[in-house]
Amino acid sequence: MTTTPRILHLFLLILCVLSGQTTSSSSSASSDIDAFLGCLSADIPPRLVHTPATNSYNALLLSSVRNLRYVLPGTARPVVIVAATEPAHVQTTVLCGRRHSVRIRTRSGGHDYEGLSYASLDPGQRFAVLDLAELRAIHIDAARAEAWVGSGASLGELYYALGAANRTLAFPAGSCPTVCFGGHLSGGGFGSLARKYGLSADNVLDAVVVDAQGRLLNRSTMGEDLFWAIRGGGGSFGVVLSWKVRLVRVPETVTVFGIRRFRNQSAVDLITRWQDIAPALPRDLYLRVLVQNPQADFVALFLGRCGRLARIMQRRFPDLGMTRADCQEISWVQSTIFIEFFTTAKPLEVLLDRSNKPDYYLKVKSDHVQEAIPRHAWESIWAKWLDEPGTPPIMLDPYGGRMGSISPSATPFPHRNYLYQLQVYSFWFENGTEALEKRISWVRGVHEELEPYVSRNPRAVYVNYRDLDLGTNGLEGNVTSYEKARVWGEKYFKGNFKRLAAVKRKVDPHDFFRNEQSIPPLPAAAKE
Ligand SMILES: Cc1cc2nc3c(=O)[nH]c(=O)nc-3n(C[C@H](O)[C@H](O)[C@H](O)COP(=O)(O)OP(=O)(O)OC[C@H]3O[C@@H](n4cnc5c(N)ncnc54)[C@H](O)[C@@H]3O)c2cc1C
Ligand SMILES: *[C@@H]1O[C@H](CO)[C@@H](O)[C@H](O)[C@H]1NC(C)=O
Ligand SMILES: *[C@@H]1O[C@H](CO)[C@@H](O)[C@H](O)[C@H]1NC(C)=O
Ligand SMILES: *[C@@H]1O[C@H](CO)[C@@H](O)[C@H](O)[C@H]1NC(C)=O
Ligand SMILES: *[C@@H]1O[C@H](CO)[C@@H](O)[C@H](O)[C@H]1NC(C)=O
Ligand SMILES: *[C@@H]1O[C@H](CO)[C@@H](O)[C@H](O)[C@H]1NC(C)=O
Repeated sequence: MTTTPRILHLFLLILCVLSGQTTSSSSSASSDIDAFLGCLSADIPPRLVHTPATNSYNALLLSSVRNLRYVLPGTARPVVIVAATEPAHVQTTVLCGRRHSVRIRTRSGGHDYEGLSYASLDPGQRFAVLDLAELRAIHIDAARAEAWVGSGASLGELYYALGAANRTLAFPAGSCPTVCFGGHLSGGGFGSLARKYGLSADNVLDAVVVDAQGRLLNRSTMGEDLFWAIRGGGGSFGVVLSWKVRLVRVPETVTVFGIRRFRNQSAVDLITRWQDIAPALPRDLYLRVLVQNPQADFVALFLGRCGRLARIMQRRFPDLGMTRADCQEISWVQSTIFIEFFTTAKPLEVLLDRSNKPDYYLKVKSDHVQEAIPRHAWESIWAKWLDEPGTPPIMLDPYGGRMGSISPSATPFPHRNYLYQLQVYSFWFENGTEALEKRISWVRGVHEELEPYVSRNPRAVYVNYRDLDLGTNGLEGNVTSYEKARVWGEKYFKGNFKRLAAVKRKVDPHDFFRNEQSIPPLPAAAKE
């Protein structure tokens, strides 16, 4: 019998499913802003245009904020939020923004770890948020195993719709049901099917994009360079409205388990062994670990039945002691709930719940590991950093399988040949600089401790785990400096960074879609 790991349950709940409070501030519109608003009003109904003077502004701004650090007083807020309901609203916003020098930040689900979709680090910046939450239609073609999905659709909404359409169809994407398509696919999209089917971005067939000139393009009209860049390049090439994706096959019944082992039992040995075992398991088996005080939780999804899973585990990882009693046989859509909430007792409708406001502050740093971290290092990390009760888990997610067989240049996401990725999280509820400094320095401390053991040259990071500690943009002339951006850019994209900059030069040479970590246009003097 496995006991329900309540701490894990609580933790996951905290990141995706909490309700909270609001803050307020005001901002006065300059003549530029007035002209911009006038321009919008020609094509966009007033009820979709929310300024700080509108009652609805605060609630809409906070509706999908996932990190309160970026709505603290002093953070620059949008001068207007446009809640687009049609592609034409997006085109108009881009054209008016260019005409009146108001930059745009695109927000789909608002999960950006560094708030780039709704906040600016530059307190003087005047920008608009283009909110795509209403552009979330989902059309599933079960016979062709394809779907069109709006950028504002959440992963949970797609999983739910797939569950209703056909028990054997799935889509490889992340575990948090409120994350939305727009940002997730723009950065890659990693989840429990990645070892079998790759990232979400590896399964995109077409997309509809509004470019910096306000044109509505699809794959055949945008060209393969831009189509390559939007599938993982981090979202600064245009506004993607919808995605056509390839659905994947899963068995009608899959198996999940969660096994908890304490540090005073065998957890450190098991984690050490897991590092080589999990990435080499059959592709049908995903086995992640959450390392936390005082235990490690091993969480699995197997695309098959319990009997076969138990035989594989017995042969490949006998020390974990998994038995048939640990299994739960369920449908794939139920497994998405299990992976997130660590229970199968919730109704499928939890996948549709997107009405959550955050009440936590967040900082995350992440790594890739290419050679198993030695046992003594795990011992000391645990003793030094994880001993305090309530410390959030370090999450280890295995690669291998299909992840390792896709070319590093097939999409902008280059990190294909690692054993696993690792995330160090902190989230907290206390408002104030003391808590903020303490929590952030904890995350940075663990990150520093890990340095000798993780990837180097570069220290590889996944762009969807956005981290502004890696560096932020500065200007050279009137566009983003390429040399300065390389510092963070090559950590996310390695050799693909230059190619992304070349695409940016082609599609957005004036650098309209600019933020703290947007791709810079490749300088004219540089050879591609
Ligand atoms: C609680 C939590 C759990 C997570 N779990 C996972 C996980 O399991 N796997 C994983 O891979 N990642 C995970 N992530 C990271 C997540 O994939 C990224 O934060 C993703 O970018 C969020 O997309 P979004 O649309 O919700 O966020 P947003 O904040 O709206 O967007 C993120 C970025 O993409 C840009 N963008 C958004 N929409 C568009 C668009 N339509 N066109 C162009 N650019 C756009 C934004 O401007 C911003 O820079 C998680 C994040 C959180 C907060
Ligand atoms: C945090 O504290 C500041 C200053 O005391 C206050 O203005 C703000 O509203 C608080 N924010 C939250 C989310 O409580
Ligand atoms: C599910 O889709 C597959 C292939 O697209 C098809 O063979 C199967 O009959 C479908 N099942 C149902 C219940 O629609
Ligand atoms: C792409 O857009 C063009 C021009 O609008 C259109 O003719 C074509 O059918 C579209 N392609 C797809 C696959 O939708
Ligand atoms: C091991 O640690 C757990 C959790 O701290 C505790 O409940 C359990 O009693 C400990 N077992 C032993 C043998 O010390
Ligand atoms: C950027 O600067 C160059 C040279 O000063 C100028 O030619 C160009 O028009 C400027 N572009 C924008 C978008 O301001």
